[in-house]
Amino acid sequence: MFRFLTAGESHGPALTVIVEGLPAGLALDIEAMNDDLRRRQGGYGRGGRQQIEQDRIQFLGGVYEGKTIGAPVVILIPNRDYENWRERVVPPWTKPRPGHADLAGGHKYGLGDLRLVAERASARETAARVAAGALAKNLLRAVDIAIGSYVESIGGVMARVDDMPLVDRVAAARASDIYCPDELAAADMRARIDEARQVGDSLGGTFVVVALNVPVGLGSHVQWDRRLDGRLAQAVMSIQAVKGVEIGPAFANAALRGTQVHDAIYPGPAGPWRQTNRAGGLEGGMSNGEPIVVRAAMKPIPTTITPIPTVDLATGEAAQTEYSRSDVCAVPAASIVGEAMVALTLAEALLERFGGDDIDSLVRRVADDRFSS
Ligand SMILES: Cc1cc2nc3c(=O)[nH]c(=O)nc-3n(C[C@H](O)[C@H](O)[C@H](O)COP(=O)(O)O)c2cc1C
Repeated sequence: MFRFLTAGESHGPALTVIVEGLPAGLALDIEAMNDDLRRRQGGYGRGGRQQIEQDRIQFLGGVYEGKTIGAPVVILIPNRDYENWRERVVPPWTKPRPGHADLAGGHKYGLGDLRLVAERASARETAARVAAGALAKNLLRAVDIAIGSYVESIGGVMARVDDMPLVDRVAAARASDIYCPDELAAADMRARIDEARQVGDSLGGTFVVVALNVPVGLGSHVQWDRRLDGRLAQAVMSIQAVKGVEIGPAFANAALRGTQVHDAIYPGPAGPWRQTNRAGGLEGGMSNGEPIVVRAAMKPIPTTITPIPTVDLATGEAAQTEYSRSDVCAVPAASIVGEAMVALTLAEALLERFGGDDIDSLVRRVADDRFSS
């Protein structure tokens, strides 16, 4: 069973994650893992916190001489900002910020100080997810599965990438400070973020995560909760501020006819093949061998310099939100979290299908399956 659990608060001493179920003997590319943490911290539009933190992975268990040993892997990511907050006396937060967990979380857990809700609801937690996802990517790489992402839109500015192969989109996004493969659109996105910052507002957008070379048959049609499309949607939707998830061009497909949408299958020397991938790599809740394409919509960041009406729960009177340090736009960062969530979901589905207490037997089984298909 492959599973992971994160813990830690935004301004606590550290974030931590335990990942259980990785096969033994998996060599870890620690630099690549730290690079994912760095990419999550980056992306045009981020706020001041990222100048303080320089996230790096510390292993507390499950790894020996750079390889997994089959035991749970424990990762620690210290919060440098903790030192700045330790001694600080902060008055209780009593004005719930619209778009945050404050109002519902305070009510649910009986916490009068809404900061205690915000500390865990904060997307700082995604550093731990990205660390876990980076571990999962090592496993996927061992069987030649590649995960990438790109920013598709910010504040209504759309990248034009239809003519660009997926691999090129991902490579171009890696070279961009806003993780967008279309340089013209990227310039407009930056300008839109600058403008939002100037007027004290925030922006959202969409990003796309792709998984290449995924073996056929991960997930299953036989039970609702084994369907890979549903599992990917849940994983990506669970990212803070993500409110929509789409497999392939699902919403555009909904306006077309069946014969315009379904990807025809042709005989070929290496088995059945397709010219198109409008299904986004998933049919019947299973991977079908085409690239998996998951698109996510992120709402605008809920903390804005411009106040939003709320209620002071201490008095019951009308109030305005108070600004605290925040990103203006975190769509680029969220795309890296999206990669992590897709990697974790695929790692789980891969291990379900092929098993694997040690990496060599897993690699062999995946290779046999690919060869026989
Ligand atoms: C990478 C990332 C960074 C974020 N940064 C901020 C931020 O700086 N300020 C903020 O108000 N919300 C930020 N958010 C979004 C909030 O965490 C999120 O909207 C809030 O916790 C409420 O959860 P919900 O939007 O999923 O309902 C960020 C989200 C992600 C994925």
